[in-house]
Amino acid sequence: MKQEDIDRIAASLAELKCKTQKEVEEARVRLLGKKGEITALFEEFRNIDRSQKAQFGKILNELKQKAQARIDELRAGASSEASKEGPQLDLTMPGDPMELGSRHPVSIVRQEIVDIFRKFGYDVAEGPEIEDDYHVFEALNFPPNHPARDMQDTFFVSAGHLNPLLLRTHTSSVQVRTMERMPVPIRVICPGRVFRNEAISARAHCIFHQVEGLYIDENVTFADLKQAILLFAREMFGPDTEIRMRPSYFPFTEPSAEVDVSCNICHGKGCNICKGTGWLEILGCGMVDPNVLEASGIDSKRYSGFAFGMGLERIAMLKWRVNDLRHYFENDMRFLRQFAAAPEV
Ligand code: PHE
Repeated sequence: MKQEDIDRIAASLAELKCKTQKEVEEARVRLLGKKGEITALFEEFRNIDRSQKAQFGKILNELKQKAQARIDELRAGASSEASKEGPQLDLTMPGDPMELGSRHPVSIVRQEIVDIFRKFGYDVAEGPEIEDDYHVFEALNFPPNHPARDMQDTFFVSAGHLNPLLLRTHTSSVQVRTMERMPVPIRVICPGRVFRNEAISARAHCIFHQVEGLYIDENVTFADLKQAILLFAREMFGPDTEIRMRPSYFPFTEPSAEVDVSCNICHGKGCNICKGTGWLEILGCGMVDPNVLEASGIDSKRYSGFAFGMGLERIAMLKWRVNDLRHYFENDMRFLRQFAAAPEV
């Protein structure tokens, strides 16, 4: 064992330069690997004279530590060198798979309804979700403190003054804004999210979605309303669908009706979906009350019109036989994925 071999290796350590991790690894193998120069010195050490062991043992251990420290230093340097150049890209690696979402059933149904009414010549109108009392109630013929307001229990955003702000309970408020803004004839549908202070259950929720429609022109009659709803029902639920109208009450329409479609599951025979009646309720409608036209500056002597409104969750429940409204709001992928194969609308 020669001191000069040890000195030579020690000196070479200071001069050692590596650019890449690969070069660092090569240097490590050359020095400390199984057949490395320093490892070879340790082999030699086994056979040297006992008298020299204490002296060389210490020097060799120091050399080994220095070499290891230098390799560590180079490794850190090389990696920072690499990060300056940016990550090493392997373009042949398979990519990260991207999870594809699917359309939400409520959004599928909304699009279907909008497409049907677009074909009939209706435009889409939108309005604010936080509305004032005037547009949600007063302009629609709900006088202050009138019991009809109980039909739509409301979340108030600010209370206590003449025209409080609230979360709209129906998109009829958008119809008011449209009547204020647009010249007659008017033909619009208003899709949107609405809010009511309801206890959440399988059949009710405090958030849901509606599409409401409004048609105003000269000589619009109840027969026009009936025909529009029949055409819509046949486009939506199939050409054999029949409708029936039952008298009802809404403050903003007179006369008012609720519309049922023939049950598309049992075709009128009676099943548990239609509760044995053969009919399913889908919407409310009526002739716009002259008070409502006048409130928005439309001459009720010259013009008349009809309005209708339906809940999207309800239509989607009938379409896909969903039995609990809460499924629509829980974002459970096991539920939502079932609509992935729904036709692209
Ligand atoms: N706005 C009514 C509701 O939300 C639905 C409706 C609209 C009824 C238009 C008649 C005419 O319950």
